[in-house]
This record gives sequence, C-alpha cells and structure tokens, in this order.
Amino acid sequence: MNVMVKACRKAAKTIIRDFGEIENLQVSLKGPGDFVTNCDKKVEKILIEELQKARPNYSILSEEFGKITNNESFMWIIDPIDGTINFLHGIPHFAISIGLEHNNEIICGIVYDPIKDEMFTAEKGNGSYLNNQRMRVSSRSKLNDCIVFTGGPPRESKDRELTLKEYNNFSSKVLVPIRKLGSASLDMAYVAAGRCDGFWQRNLNYWDIAAGIVLVKEAGGFVTDFIGENEYIQNRTILVTNSKINKEMIEVLK
Ligand code: IPD
Ligand code: CA
Ligand code: CA
Repeated sequence: MNVMVKACRKAAKTIIRDFGEIENLQVSLKGPGDFVTNCDKKVEKILIEELQKARPNYSILSEEFGKITNNESFMWIIDPIDGTINFLHGIPHFAISIGLEHNNEIICGIVYDPIKDEMFTAEKGNGSYLNNQRMRVSSRSKLNDCIVFTGGPPRESKDRELTLKEYNNFSSKVLVPIRKLGSASLDMAYVAAGRCDGFWQRNLNYWDIAAGIVLVKEAGGFVTDFIGENEYIQNRTILVTNSKINKEMIEVLK
C-alpha cells in the first residue's frame, strides 16, 4: 500500500500541473487532444518507474503501455488517468487507479482523485478507507431510494446498441436517478464510500475496475456480473452494489 500511495502522490503532481494548462488549450485551435495523450503517457511512466523501483519482479498491466511480464505472481494493474474525457474538457473528475493482483485476485487497490485530494484505498482483509477514514457501502435497501451510476456506451463498439437498450430498459422500470460521471474507478470508489448505491457497466477493461473491486468488497459491497454469477467481468459486464440491492438490480437489469 505504501508503495502504491507514494507512486500516486508523485504522479499526481504531473496531473495537477497539466490539468492547470488545459484551460488555456481549450481555446486554442488545436485543442488539448495531443497534450492529454502526452500527459497520460508521462503519468503512466512515473507510476511504472516508481512501482518497478520498489518491486522489480512484479508484472505490470497498464492501459497505454500494455503488459510487462515478470517472474513473480504479483501484477500491478494501472490506469494512469481514468476519466480522460473529463480531463480533456477541464472537468475535475478523474483518477489514478492501481490494483495489485495475486493468484487471480485483487488484494490491494488505490483510486486517487488528485483534484479533490481524495485517496480511496483497500487491502484484502483490512477494510476500505477514504483518506484514512474507514468507509462502508450504503445501507439503503429499496432501489427506489437509491442513486446509481453507469457509463458508456463507447463511441465505436458492437455493443453500442445493446448498452443503450439496457439503459432504457433500466430507466423505464424504476424511478431511480442514474448518473454518468465518466470515471469507472471513481464510480466504484463512490459505491464503496456509500455516496452511491450501485453501478453497472458493459465493456470495461480490467484497469478501469481492478482497484475498485477490492475497494467495494472491503467496504462490504458486492461485485458481480449482470446476472450475479461471476465475481469479475468474464462476460465483460460488471455490477457493483451495496449489500442490500444486489438482487433487485439484477432483476431490473434483466
Ligand atoms: C473510461 C472511463 C469511463 C468509462 C469508459 C472508460 P478512460 O476510461 O472509466 O467512465 O465509461 O468505458 O474507458 O478511457 O478515461 O481511462
Ligand atoms: Ca479507464
Ligand atoms: Ca485511462
């Protein structure tokens, strides 16, 4: 955990500095597109360097860089900026996300929102924390009292239509406020913190959700697929809830 926190804090300095530049670039003809791609890569490089310095034998799976295979059974899973579109538009809602996998299980995770200085951390068996304060999922038991998050659909995907259909299906069945905040790792961290009661999304990648999985589980929540069977996204669907509304969410998503 200390290694991950240190890496995040160092990388966050670059993110904050570059986010400050975005406003100027918004008004330029070229826009901030390339600048953001460069920032993403810079941040990833800092994270990988810091993590490798501390644990040279761990493998790494990172969004931009891809996979670095090493001989130990531990693997860092990194999303340097989760919420790139927000970042690009100057919307202060994005995070660094790092999970640590061991024997196909995420045992440690950090989601760090550098703008709000909110650090969500969890270690298997040790609970979930927001800036060192213990967090728990919400206790709301009726879906109609809840607020839920979702995301997507991606611009180009064969599942675009399906994702839209699922959204319409969900919102036609229950009168629940649905929000799309644009950062899957923060969506999951917010469920862990009890700010939001549930989250579903199709087609996420492992780096979007790795850290979030342990955050939610250690805060007492559930992580399944849309039908409640698998813990992870083997069929590329993820459903995250507090401990009370999991069954109802599955019913409504059907
Ligand atoms: C994206 C965010 C977003 C989700 C997308 C992801 P990125 O990650 O998590 O909330 O809806 O599916 O790709 O591209 O900003 O790292
Ligand atoms: Ca992401
Ligand atoms: Ca990203």
